[in-house]
Amino acid sequence: MALRINPLVEGTPLSGIRQMSNRLPAHPGAVNLTVGQPDFPPPDDVKEAARQAIGQRMTGYSMNAGLQELREAAAAYYGKKYGFRYDPATETVITAGGSGSMDAVLRTILEPGDEAIIPVPIYAGYEPLIRLAGAIPVYQDTRRTRFIPDADALEKLITPKTKVVIFNNPSNPTGVAIPKDQMDRLAEVLARHQVYILSDDIYSENTFDAPHQSFGAYPALRDRLFLIHGLSKSHSMTGWRIGVLFGPAAVMKHIVKVHAYNAICAPTPSQYAAIEAYTGTTDAPEKMNRAYIKRRAFLLEALKEMNLSIVRPTGAFYAFPSIEEFPITSKEFAIRALEEEGVAVVHGSAFTMYGEGHVRISYAASREQLEKGMERLGRFVRKLRGDTPTTVPDTLFKE
Ligand SMILES: Cc1ncc(COP(=O)(O)O)c(C=O)c1O
Repeated sequence: MALRINPLVEGTPLSGIRQMSNRLPAHPGAVNLTVGQPDFPPPDDVKEAARQAIGQRMTGYSMNAGLQELREAAAAYYGKKYGFRYDPATETVITAGGSGSMDAVLRTILEPGDEAIIPVPIYAGYEPLIRLAGAIPVYQDTRRTRFIPDADALEKLITPKTKVVIFNNPSNPTGVAIPKDQMDRLAEVLARHQVYILSDDIYSENTFDAPHQSFGAYPALRDRLFLIHGLSKSHSMTGWRIGVLFGPAAVMKHIVKVHAYNAICAPTPSQYAAIEAYTGTTDAPEKMNRAYIKRRAFLLEALKEMNLSIVRPTGAFYAFPSIEEFPITSKEFAIRALEEEGVAVVHGSAFTMYGEGHVRISYAASREQLEKGMERLGRFVRKLRGDTPTTVPDTLFKE
């Protein structure tokens, strides 16, 4: 008889994003608009700092919470931008990517039976962690509020069992950033209830229409708030595994234990390189944003021509158009778009069932790939609608 493994793990699905991108090798020449991997190289000075660290054998373990110099640099960088102050010694931990922060926070605070509120559709990384802790995800449907969590609706979901409210701002998959007035209202509600707040702000550097608004700017939340930042997206350093977690000292001293028994520390050469990212040439995110803004304009125009409706994305690098008009699931849509037209997008249901009826398009891809991808998606959409081909057969022009 096979030995039993933890049924909570057995029941955990593979990420829907990976399910789609794993299909790509079977489709050579397909346009890949699935992954949240910026197509830019990491900044040159950061790469050089990593080379130096390796050359000088600065490659051993660091302190569990990360190099003190890096914690100081990161706390100064984000604090100045977003209006908060965290003590680098006691309120800042460097983790293996933003994912390491999510895991350490949720495993530290969640107990079996706790409720964790998540606004949906949302990135697929939180729900498995909530369930593995024996806690229960409670969904806040944001589809009728342009993917922005409404403060009154949130308050109605809070019960004595609510342990944490999670945000992802700007959002993957919708690309929507929470505007200032909504942040104020959410902060008001959260100030009234004794719950933890976890805001995954990994895309904070990628906002296009207005500056990023951080829950860190609300002192009333401070002793219950955790903020996740990191270099994966802003500096195109996904494989370097640098996440930055800020939170209140009283809880961070426990979080660092969970992090330590899992990872010991974030990769040390990456930590030395990260110091450069936060203190050296710091315009890398702005440079990438200029390209994203142009690509977004192109994408929105292309989707408009396809007659697909969309909530305007204001951050991250994702577009989340509706495909509700078609009588197929988003997964069928995504698989068929890949198999029939060679364009890969992610089905909305990968972001909880509340994402059904949408697909996520990543525009962290070159303009050339985007153009090709949109041409193919357009062809697929016209085919699904049963439109007659719009191109006039050549023969009509022949004498
Ligand atoms: C919302 C969100 N949080 C966290 C992550 C993971 O970040 P990291 O690679 O730094 O672990 C991702 C990656 O796509 C993401 O979209």
